[in-house]
Formats: sequence, C-alpha cells, structure tokens
Amino acid sequence: MNQQGRITVNEVRGVTIWFTGPNGAGKSTISEGVLGELRARSTRVELLDGDLVRQNLSKGLGFSKEDRDINIRRIGFVADLLTRNGVTVLVAAISPYREARGEVRAQIGAFREIHVAAPPDSLLDRDVKGLYRKALAGELANFTGVSDPYEVPTDPELVIHTDHEAVPLSIQRVLDLLDHVIAGRAGEGRRR
Ligand code: ADX
Repeated sequence: MNQQGRITVNEVRGVTIWFTGPNGAGKSTISEGVLGELRARSTRVELLDGDLVRQNLSKGLGFSKEDRDINIRRIGFVADLLTRNGVTVLVAAISPYREARGEVRAQIGAFREIHVAAPPDSLLDRDVKGLYRKALAGELANFTGVSDPYEVPTDPELVIHTDHEAVPLSIQRVLDLLDHVIAGRAGEGRRR
C-alpha cells in the first residue's frame, strides 16, 4: 500500500520457489513446512507437489524424458499464472532435466531454484516409499538416480543437504531467501 492507500505494483508480484531433487531427498517435507509457516503469516501461497500434480493435472503421464518434460512445463505454466497474480508458489517436483528447469525459470522470471540434495546412500537407507528397493530389483523402470538421470543444478539460489541439516533449519533458510526477495523489491520501490 502506498501513502494514498493504493495497492502498488510490488504488492501483486509473487514468486516461484522451485524445489528440485531426487525421490526421498526431502522436497515435500521442506516445502510443506514452508507452506505452513507462510500460511501462518497470511501469505497467499500454493504448493504444487509432484505426487499430487500427477494425480490431477498430469494424470496419465509416465517417467520418460518426454513425459517428465511435459509435466514440468504444465507445472511451470500454472506456477507462472499464480506468480503473476501475487501468489507465492512452492513447487516440489524431481524435475531432473536442467533444460526444462531453465525453460520454466525463463518463463516465470521471479523464480528461485532450491536443490534438495542427499547422497545416494542415505536415499537408499531411508527409502520411505520402498521405491529405490523396487527400482534396484528391476521392478520400476526409468527410476531417477537408479535407471534414469538426475542433472544437478549448476546455479541454484540455495542448496539444502538434508542428510546433515535439520528440517526446521532448512525451512528457515527458505523463509530467509523469500524475505530477501521481498526486501529487494522494497528497495526497488524506494529507488523509483
Ligand atoms: S518429475 O520427474 O516429473 O518431476 P515428479 O516429481 O512429478 O517427477 O513425480 C515423482 C513421484 O512419482 C515420486 O515421488 C514417486 O512417488 C513417483 N514415481 C513413480 N515412478 C517413478 C519413477 N520411475 N521415477 C521417479 N519417480 C517415480
């Protein structure tokens, strides 16, 4: 709000926080934690989680490179619409291909990439859904990190190593990143 009580452009700009990383690294846990914190602050926020998106928007898609790229473009399209309308969008999707992530970054603009990383050993140890075990037994094709690639981000805004960082600290680091985005915009507004 400016001094005349009018809504200023800054207030309707959202941002997309894109969590990328392999299955079980912790994308959903951290993004859900951030979602809770932002809701408590009354921020307009949405979470697009890969598992849920694949039951709805991307129902029927598989895990070939082509299908994963379509999935990422669909998520990117929705994230862009929401971001343009002032929503803080959290995306939690493996998004294993650098090129597709670059495409959505370019499309959305107000985009921050967070690499949620964990070493292969710890992913296999945790394996909450039992998917790594299945993939290693050859029962699940195209499985990220086993029989399908994961292209590590080259220039993410944040890297979270979930094997040696507690969840509350990771959540706080994401909130700090968001505060930084907002503070940067307030600075832009003052310079106008
Ligand atoms: S992405 O590669 O297209 O970004 P997304 O995050 O939407 O993937 O979906 C990943 C989810 O699909 C995982 O959480 C897992 O439960 C499920 N899944 C089923 N098969 C596979 C597979 N072959 N590779 C990766 N995830 C799989």
